[in-house]
Amino acid sequence: MSERHVSVATPILGEEEYDNVEAVLDSGRFLQGPMVEEFEAKWAELVGVEHAVAVSNGTTALQLALNAMGLEPGDEVIVPSLTFGSTATAVVHQAGVPVFADIDRELYTLDHTDLERCVSEHTEAVIPVHLYGHPAEMDEIRAFADEHDLAVIEDAAQAHGASYKGEPVGSIGDVGCFSFYATKNITTGEGGIVTTDDEEIADRIRLLRSHGMEGRDEHVALGYNYRMSDLNAAIGTAQVDRLLGFNDRRREISERLFEELGDLEWISPGTVREYVEHAYFWAPFEVDPDVIGMSGKDVWRELKDQGVETRHRYVDPLYEQPVFEEHRGFNSKFPWSENPREHSYDLHLPNVEAVAGNTLGLPNHPGLEEADIEYVIETVRSFGSF
Ligand SMILES: Cc1ncc(COP(=O)(O)O)c(C=O)c1O
Repeated sequence: MSERHVSVATPILGEEEYDNVEAVLDSGRFLQGPMVEEFEAKWAELVGVEHAVAVSNGTTALQLALNAMGLEPGDEVIVPSLTFGSTATAVVHQAGVPVFADIDRELYTLDHTDLERCVSEHTEAVIPVHLYGHPAEMDEIRAFADEHDLAVIEDAAQAHGASYKGEPVGSIGDVGCFSFYATKNITTGEGGIVTTDDEEIADRIRLLRSHGMEGRDEHVALGYNYRMSDLNAAIGTAQVDRLLGFNDRRREISERLFEELGDLEWISPGTVREYVEHAYFWAPFEVDPDVIGMSGKDVWRELKDQGVETRHRYVDPLYEQPVFEEHRGFNSKFPWSENPREHSYDLHLPNVEAVAGNTLGLPNHPGLEEADIEYVIETVRSFGSF
C-alpha cells in the first residue's frame, strides 16, 4: 500500500459557490426558482441553443427528452453498447425498447456503420453518447437519422464544453442531455439539463418535469417531479463560469499523460480526432491484457494499491446486463412485450467485446498538483515492477 493517494475526481469549489448557496439558504426558498433560471440561461448560452431546461439528473434528462420526442410503447431506440446503463434504462422507463449498436474501435463511441443492422420500421430515435468526453461521429449519425426519419438525442452527460467540427455538443442533435453528477467536469451535486432549439420540446419538458401540471392543480400530462432545486443550481451557476478553464487544464494534463506514457507497449492512449474539442472527462487508456498478462481490472486494483485511483467502468457490453438480457422491464416484460420483434440480446459485437473491461481513465482533474501528475506517470511507467 502506498502513502500517496491521487484521486480520479473531486469537486472544485470557489467562493461564488459558497456565496450563492448561502444566498439561497438565507432566502428560505429552496425550490426551483431564480438560481435555476440563471443556471439555465448560462447553460443555453454556453451550448449555443435557445432553451436549456434543468432537471434532477442526467437520467431524467434522457427520460424527458425521449418522452417529449413522442416515444410510444414498444418503439425502438438505438444506443451504443458501451456506456453508462442509464442511457438504455431511460429508454425502457419511457416504454421503449433499446437496440444495441457496436462502438467505433478507435473512439469508443457509437459505430455509425452498425446503424443499418439496428434500424427497423419500429425505430424512432438514436442516442449517440459522447463517451469519456470525445464527441461521437455526428455527421454520419445525423445523416443516417435524417435518411430514416429518426430523432437524435445526444447523451452529453460526459462531454460538458466539448465540440464537434466547431459545434458545441448538445446543439447538434434534436436535443442534448447533460449530467452534473459530483464526479463530472462540473457539478451541482446531482443534476441534469436538456438543451434544444425546439420550443415545443422545451415546453413539453418543462411541463413533464413538474408533475405535468398547468397552473397550480391541473394535471394535463403524465408528469414527474424531476425538478432541480435552487440549492443545486446555486452551485451550478458558479460552476458554469469555471468550465472552460477546468477543461483547459484537463486537456493539458491528459495530453501530457498521453505523451509521457504513449511509448508503453501494454497501455495505449485514446484516439482524439483533429476536428473535435475533447472535454477529457476521462484521460482514457486501453490496456492490452496479452502484453501485460493481466486484466484491466487487475491493473486498476494494483494501481489503486499504489495510490493511483483510475476510472474502470462499463466492464461488460450493456447487452449482457441482466436487466436487458432478461427483459426485466416492468413486471410483464413490458415494453418488450409491446413489440413484435424478438429482441434477443444474445449478441456478440466485436469492437465492444475487444474493449469492455480494458479501458482505464487516469487522474486528470484540475485539482491535481504537479507532484500528483508526476507520481501517476512514474507509477504507470514502473508498473509491473512493484
Ligand atoms: C453517459 C451517461 N449517460 C447518462 C448518465 C446519467 O446521469 P446521472 O448520473 O446524472 O443520472 C451518466 C452518468 O453518469 C452517463 O455517464
